[in-house]
Amino acid sequence: MNERIIKDAIDYIKQIFQYDYSGHDPFHTLRVYHMATTIAQQEKADVMIVQLAALLHDVDDIKLSPKTHLSKENTVNFLNKHHVSAQTIKIICDIIENVSYSGTDSVIPPSMEGKCVQDADRLDAMGAIGIARAFAYGGSHNRAIYDPNIPYKENMNKTEYQNNTSTTINHFYEKLFQLHQQMNTKTAKAISKKREAFMKTYISEFLAEWDGIR
Ligand code: ADP
Ligand code: NI
Repeated sequence: MNERIIKDAIDYIKQIFQYDYSGHDPFHTLRVYHMATTIAQQEKADVMIVQLAALLHDVDDIKLSPKTHLSKENTVNFLNKHHVSAQTIKIICDIIENVSYSGTDSVIPPSMEGKCVQDADRLDAMGAIGIARAFAYGGSHNRAIYDPNIPYKENMNKTEYQNNTSTTINHFYEKLFQLHQQMNTKTAKAISKKREAFMKTYISEFLAEWDGIR
C-alpha cells in the first residue's frame, strides 16, 4: 500500500459525497482522515490502516448507503481494486463496522486503529463544526430545530437511536453530550474537552434566547 491508494480514496469519497448536505460532505471525511492521522501518530497506531478506514468510514454507512451497509461492498470493491490483501480488507471493514454511535449499544473498538478512527469521527460531531453538522442533518431529515414539548430520551439502544425522530436540540442530550466521556484515546479526550465546553455554552445561550431571557 502506498500514497497512490490514499490519493485514489480521497478522489473516491469526493465523488461519492459531493452532493451530500446532511453533514457528511467530503470535508467531513477529510477532517476525520486528518484528525485520525494525528491521533494515530500520537498513539503509535498503524497509520496506513487508520487512514484508509477513516477515508472509507462513511461509504457503506447505514444512513447513507443502506444497500451496501451489511456487505461493505463499496469498501471491499475499492480495496480489492487496489490489490489490498483479504486480511487487511477484513481489518478495515471491522473498524468501519464499529465506528458508528449506536446509543447504549455503541462498541468500543478492540484495536487501537479502530479507536483512533472512532475518536476522530466523534470529534467531528462536537464543537462548532459538530453544531453545524447537527443542524444540517436535522434540516435534511425534516427535523424540528427544537420543540420544548418533546422531551429528550436517555439511554436509547441502537434500534431506538436509529428510529428516533426527535429534534436537533434533543440530539445534543441524546448523543453529543455523551461523546466526551466515550473518547478512547488520551489525544482525543484532550481535544474533546474544549469542544464539549463550547457546545454546552452554545446550548445554554440557545435556551436562554428561546425563553426570551437574553
Ligand atoms: P456517526 O458518525 O457516529 O455514525 P452519525 O453519522 O449518526 O454519527 O452522525 C453524523 C452527523 O449527523 C453528526 O454530526 C451527528 O451529530 C449528526 N446527527 C446524527 N443524528 C442526528 C439527529 N437525530 N439530529 C441531528 N443531528 C444528527
Ligand atoms: Ni462520519
